[in-house]
Amino acid sequence: MAGNYRKKILADQGWMHAFDDVLIKPGFTNFDPNRVDISSSLGPYKFNIPIMSAAMDTVTGVEMAIQMALLGGLGVLHRNCSCEKRLEMVKKVKRARSYIVDDVATIFPNSPIHEAISKMEQLEISGLVVVDDNNKVMGILTSRDIPFDAKLKENGLVKDVMTKEVITGNSGISRIEAAKMLYKIRKEKLPIIDEEGRLVGLITNKDLKPDFPKASLDKRGRLLCALAVSPVMPRNVKERKIFEEIVEYTDIFFIDVADFYKKQDIENTKEIMETFNVQFILGNIGTFEAAEYILTKVDYDRDKFIALKAGMGSGSICSTSIQTGVGAPTLFATAQIADAIEKYDPKMGLIADGGFKNLGDLPKAFTVGANMIMTGHFFGGCVESPGFVDTIQGRKIKVYRGMGSKEARHVAGDYIVDRYSKETKTLPEGVSDYIPFVGPVEGVIEQMKTGIKNGMIYAGAKNIKEMKNVEIGIITMSGKLESEPHDLIGKW
Ligand code: XMP
Repeated sequence: MAGNYRKKILADQGWMHAFDDVLIKPGFTNFDPNRVDISSSLGPYKFNIPIMSAAMDTVTGVEMAIQMALLGGLGVLHRNCSCEKRLEMVKKVKRARSYIVDDVATIFPNSPIHEAISKMEQLEISGLVVVDDNNKVMGILTSRDIPFDAKLKENGLVKDVMTKEVITGNSGISRIEAAKMLYKIRKEKLPIIDEEGRLVGLITNKDLKPDFPKASLDKRGRLLCALAVSPVMPRNVKERKIFEEIVEYTDIFFIDVADFYKKQDIENTKEIMETFNVQFILGNIGTFEAAEYILTKVDYDRDKFIALKAGMGSGSICSTSIQTGVGAPTLFATAQIADAIEKYDPKMGLIADGGFKNLGDLPKAFTVGANMIMTGHFFGGCVESPGFVDTIQGRKIKVYRGMGSKEARHVAGDYIVDRYSKETKTLPEGVSDYIPFVGPVEGVIEQMKTGIKNGMIYAGAKNIKEMKNVEIGIITMSGKLESEPHDLIGKW
């Protein structure tokens, strides 16, 4: 039965178990294993893979965010840089893949044809949308409309040769609808207009071809874009203005602090949520009480607030627990919050964040109520993560560091300092180290997908929802030793 997640792992009796302390109970597989479905959702967003890359400056920059969204998950851009840099990052992600071109090349009806020709040559495009002073679509001019007659070409006006009967689409048109329409009219280009007939975009046949059919997309077919943000309002008018622009390219803000269960952060977040029109994921928290408080005592806009993020001090680069004695292992935290969600707001999403060491840890998170998992450890060594590949004793490696490490805090600016309590400013809560270089993220994701799928097949769950019903049990140290390769001569 779903729910009672705390009971499943004895958290109701005070135990704070971690992934290594549990194993999933095998179940009856009464479905075709090829049909196991690992898709998931958070608020209005559907993800073909339930995986996110962490908002860390050695994990998710532009390249990782683009690749994660293309593969069907989500990469959360880190915030350890200036507002200007963050704006640059979200723009790049949003513009990376779009079947709707935003900055359409246009021309006026009274412009000379030769001007249109040189504009097309300069931009290396085969057509221009003809608009009036109010950006209303008047026609379309493609290379096929350019007259053969040299005189007309030199002296004629765009309006003399353009195609006047233009079929347009409305903003909000889906990729499928656009493809059908272009096929019906046997045209290459479909201008997109708003209610007043003003040009807002252009769809071309070539941009409609989906190279990544499983990509995580927004309503307009652009890649989903998420950014970590501080729970403190932008400091001055300039930053606020930049944030207003950031919002235009971002779908989800991840309020990114080590411990969100703080009155001040909770209140500041309310102000941020009221100011900026994006969706919000809040975290991290680690207990039932924290989730209960956020879900029942704070009046957040539920259209905007779509998920909570679980886990404190369990990341592979975290030292919060050893520095402060406080922590909530991700398995424990997820079960705690899942119970509160089940009780107070079953539609709320839940992300299990950090602490995953082996592929087998991933399916365990779903049995205690997670909708998605987030990891930095699996992705820090990928081609797409920021940073260089180096070599140590013949092994290729990359740097992976906690956002509370001395090294991350020493980036010029104090961007990340409010991720941690003021009192710990001088006390690092993370470490910096090397992890193996593992190649492109696509290969890593394939392995993670297989790990999750195989776990679900053994457990007898054909989707994430069913996985939440699966039983999970505590194992002893001897059970743990037995469940790993053992009693072998070599080192495995
Ligand atoms: P993994 O296990 O994937 O965990 O390395 C990644 C998650 O760890 C969190 N994080 C930190 N926590 N000190 C902490 O206590 C840090 O310096 C730190 N840096 C990252 C974060 O939630 C991330 O997703």
